[in-house]
Amino acid sequence: MADEPKKLFKVTIDNITVEVEPGTTILMAARKIGGDVVPPAMCYYSKLQNSGGKCRTCLVRVAAGSTADPRPMPKLVASCRTNVMDGMIVENITSHAVLEARKGVVEFLLLNHPLDCPVCDQAGECDLQDLTYEHGSEGTRYEFRRRTFERIDLGPYIQLHMTRCILCYRCVYTADQVSKNREHGVLDRGDHSQIATFIQNNLDNEFIGNVIDVCPVGALTDRTFRFKNRVWFTKPVDAHRDCPTCKGKVRLWMRGDDVLRVTARKDQWGEVEDWICNECRFEKKKVTDWVVEGPTRVDRHSVISAGHYVNVVKPKETFTEVMGRKPKLLMDIHSISQVNTVDLNEIQGPATGKTFNGNPHAVGTNVTDVKEGKGRNKKGTDSTNPNTP
Ligand code: SF4
Ligand code: FES
Repeated sequence: MADEPKKLFKVTIDNITVEVEPGTTILMAARKIGGDVVPPAMCYYSKLQNSGGKCRTCLVRVAAGSTADPRPMPKLVASCRTNVMDGMIVENITSHAVLEARKGVVEFLLLNHPLDCPVCDQAGECDLQDLTYEHGSEGTRYEFRRRTFERIDLGPYIQLHMTRCILCYRCVYTADQVSKNREHGVLDRGDHSQIATFIQNNLDNEFIGNVIDVCPVGALTDRTFRFKNRVWFTKPVDAHRDCPTCKGKVRLWMRGDDVLRVTARKDQWGEVEDWICNECRFEKKKVTDWVVEGPTRVDRHSVISAGHYVNVVKPKETFTEVMGRKPKLLMDIHSISQVNTVDLNEIQGPATGKTFNGNPHAVGTNVTDVKEGKGRNKKGTDSTNPNTP
C-alpha cells in the first residue's frame, strides 16, 4: 500500500499562508516564507539542539491558535519555541503590540551591553547592532551603572569580553555539542550571570573556535583578527582546502592578498553552514593554503556589501588613450626611493622610527599579534586601543 501523503499544517503569518510539516516552529515556518515576515532571533540557532527561548526577540502574536480552537493566545509567544497548529494565524510586523514588545526587548538587552560599537570587532556583523537599528528606541530609561567584567583570554585564540555578552547560551551549546568536552557554561544567576570557564580552563578543543561564529555580539572574538581591520574594508571570498579534521569549506576575509581572518560560511540567516576546525580558522592565513572559489555573495543590506565587488562597472580609463602610455605611479611607499630607503616588504613587522633612522631591520611590536596568555587580560594585550572597555 502506497504511503499516505503527510498531512501538512496551514499557517498564516502576516497574511501570507504557508504549508509546513507538523512539529515546525512558527519561526521556521516564517523562514519558509522569508523576507520581513521572519522574526529576528538572537539566541535560536537551527544547527544547535535546544537553543532558543532565552532572548525574547522573536516574540509574535498568535491571533488564532488553530482551526479547531481559533481563540488568540493570551500573551505574545517566542516563535522559536512555539510549534504551529493547523489553521494558526500569526502576526509579526503587522502587530503593533509585537513591535512595541520588541522595542522593549532591545532596551532590555542594552541595559548592560556597552555601546562600544566604534571599537568593537563585531561592528558591521553584530546581530544586536542590526536589531537595535531596526527595532530599538532612541534612548534608554536605565540610569544605573552597567555591569562590567575584565576581558578573559580563553587560550591563545579566543577572547571573552563578558561585558558585551547577552547570555544567549549559543556558545555553551556549541561547546557542548560540537566539541566533546564542555568546559564552560553560564555561572550564577540574575545580573551576576556570566559565561565562565571553570577555573579558567583553556578551551583548546579543535572545534572550539566555532563559538566565535555563533556569538551574536562581540563577546567572543578571534584574537588573531582583533583590531586588525573593520569587516566592511575586507573582501570575503569562499575557499576550501583538503582538511583532515573538518570539511575545510570556509570564508576568507581578505585585504589585498592578505588573509586577515578565516570564518565558517554562514547562510542567509547568519548561521554557520559547516563547523570548521581551529587549524583552518587560526593557522591557515596564507592565500596559498586555500583554493579560492570566488567572491562571497553579500546581502546588499549588509554594511559588508560596501566592499562588494562583483560586476563592478569601472569608468572608462582615458589616460592611456590620450597619452599613449599607461599612467606611472608617482610614489609607491613600498618601493625604495630617495624618500624611503627601507624595503618595507622585507621586514617582519610594523616599521618604527628606528627603522628609518639607521636600523632598517628594526620592527615594532604588533600588539594585535600577541597571542600567548590565558586567564584575566588586565592589560588588554591584544588591543591597540587602551580605552577599549
Ligand atoms: S558569549 Fe556570545 S554566544 Fe556566548 S552567551 Fe554570551 S552572547 Fe551568547
Ligand atoms: S530567538 Fe526566540 S527567544 Fe531568542
